[in-house]
Amino acid sequence: MARIPDVFIDDLLNRTDIVEIVGARVPLKKQGRDYAARCPFHDERSASFTVSPTKQFYHCFGCGAHGTALGFLMNYDRLEFLDAVEELAQRAGMEIPREQAQFNRPPDLADLHTVMESCRQFYVKQLARSDEARAYLDGRGLDETTITHFQIGFAPPGFDSLSRAVNNDAHKLKMLTRGGMFSTNDRGHSYDKFRNRVMFPISDRRGRTIGFGGRVINPDDAPKYLNSPETELFHKGRELYGLWQVRQVHSKIPYLLVVEGYMDVVALYQHGIDTAVATLGTATTPEHAELLFRNSETVVFCFDGDNAGRKAAWKAVESVLPRMKEGRQAFFMFLPNGEDPDSMVRKEGKLGFENLREAATPMSRFFIEHLSEGLQLQTLEGRSRFAEITKPYLAQLPDGSFRDLMQAQVNEIVGLSSSQERAAPMVRRSRNAVPVAKRSLVRSVIALLMQQPSLALELQPPYPFAALKLPGIDLLCELLMRVDERPEINTGMLLESFEGTEHFEPLSKLAATIIPSEEEILLQEFNDAITQLEIRMREQRLGELQEKQRRNEMTALDIEELMRLLRLKLSPPAQT
Ligand code: UTP
Ligand code: MN
Repeated sequence: MARIPDVFIDDLLNRTDIVEIVGARVPLKKQGRDYAARCPFHDERSASFTVSPTKQFYHCFGCGAHGTALGFLMNYDRLEFLDAVEELAQRAGMEIPREQAQFNRPPDLADLHTVMESCRQFYVKQLARSDEARAYLDGRGLDETTITHFQIGFAPPGFDSLSRAVNNDAHKLKMLTRGGMFSTNDRGHSYDKFRNRVMFPISDRRGRTIGFGGRVINPDDAPKYLNSPETELFHKGRELYGLWQVRQVHSKIPYLLVVEGYMDVVALYQHGIDTAVATLGTATTPEHAELLFRNSETVVFCFDGDNAGRKAAWKAVESVLPRMKEGRQAFFMFLPNGEDPDSMVRKEGKLGFENLREAATPMSRFFIEHLSEGLQLQTLEGRSRFAEITKPYLAQLPDGSFRDLMQAQVNEIVGLSSSQERAAPMVRRSRNAVPVAKRSLVRSVIALLMQQPSLALELQPPYPFAALKLPGIDLLCELLMRVDERPEINTGMLLESFEGTEHFEPLSKLAATIIPSEEEILLQEFNDAITQLEIRMREQRLGELQEKQRRNEMTALDIEELMRLLRLKLSPPAQT
């Protein structure tokens, strides 16, 4: 294969700054003359990856990966050599010597790109000519800007529009066939695959059209959506509809919202949410997950709230788990029954939709809820089964704080502190082992009250945390009420009022412990603990509402409450 002249590559690298190229993809930290980062090519906690601006070279002391800006692009963006060269040339405003470029790329692949591009242009022109198609898009609330942004077009009703458009040129017909634009009947006759459909062009990472999705405008036609078949250019398990557009709008993508349909992506954009992408009628593949995280550290998966949606969400978890490197986070957003992002954003508007997104379930919680479904976690058997089930999944997580966090959460449920887990693996644990008793939050508040009942006067019933599902909360509220009713009450009197109840003994013990502290400090501790209770109450309520949301039982009041809680969460009370 002929090569691009070395002088051109030299010149190209000369005009490229590797720090910029790498820095746009990996967060770099200045370290002396060089830059350092956690290596993007292997999992690690320390930063062994360095980029040298003077040498225009990267090197990882951990895994030995190294190379120039060109090599980095090939490895990181998974680009072919020529694509990487083109990418850099584009940035540098340089043109690859023309014959050379033609020479290097298998010539008909370039032709295939060209023909797909002319199909896209053809459909755009046809849209301008079809009142019916434009009326359809109008009816779905899309304006010109949105239609142009996604280069939406229209495939006319006839069977031979494309072949006529290329004047039956034999080579172009061949290319159209390879591009998946034709269907073939029993007699071997080819005809337009997409007819009388709104056309959504699918772009590759570099903005080239590689396939289409077409939606019927006549509700009697089927199937509702038709996608390009797999071709040399188009592999649907690897592509995300709309990603190219998101990248055009954002140099740093704050988060990617993954939805199911073309129309969802487009409608969200129409309403000002411009970071949505769609899988193309498939589950989230590992390749999708990789692509998503390479483009943004935060990925929010949006699914229907029904069973199918939850199944699809779990599929996404399985694809995402091995890719949860440091800094990456995934969320799951479940929509009420019968809604999709398109209908939701129309109803709730941008703000309402974003509020729902803010309330999305973190992957850690979804993970635990899903795997503990049907298990009796209050029994030892249930908990040990839970430990067993979660193990292989946890093992898939790369090293890092997310893994630690998940392990800690699982340990907490199973009844182990993480240090115990590390010291002795699960299996060797004696069945009688009891977790170390630590004074719980509620117990500490009760202890403080028994020291100095007047602390209760800081609060007034009804107590916002009364509905907390924590052991002892009822007793705590009872104590608070009793002091509220008799403000002069002292410890002895308070204790006396519990004479003959099951609480007398434990309360006496708490009253007897001496907490050697000044009044001011007791007060501060009390207030801090109450703040904690209130925060936990909100968390619990948030969890309940999210659960409701998943079960599609949200009422308008619930949504309001959810929004209020989220706002509070964003601005928690100042803590001392
Ligand atoms: P939906 O059936 O949920 O459609 O398909 P939608 O996104 O709500 O579309 P509208 O609002 O009716 O226009 C979601 C996705 O599933 C794939 C397509 O990728 C579609 O965007 N799909 C659906 C197909 O591939 N074929 C079909 O027949 C239907
Ligand atoms: Mn829809």
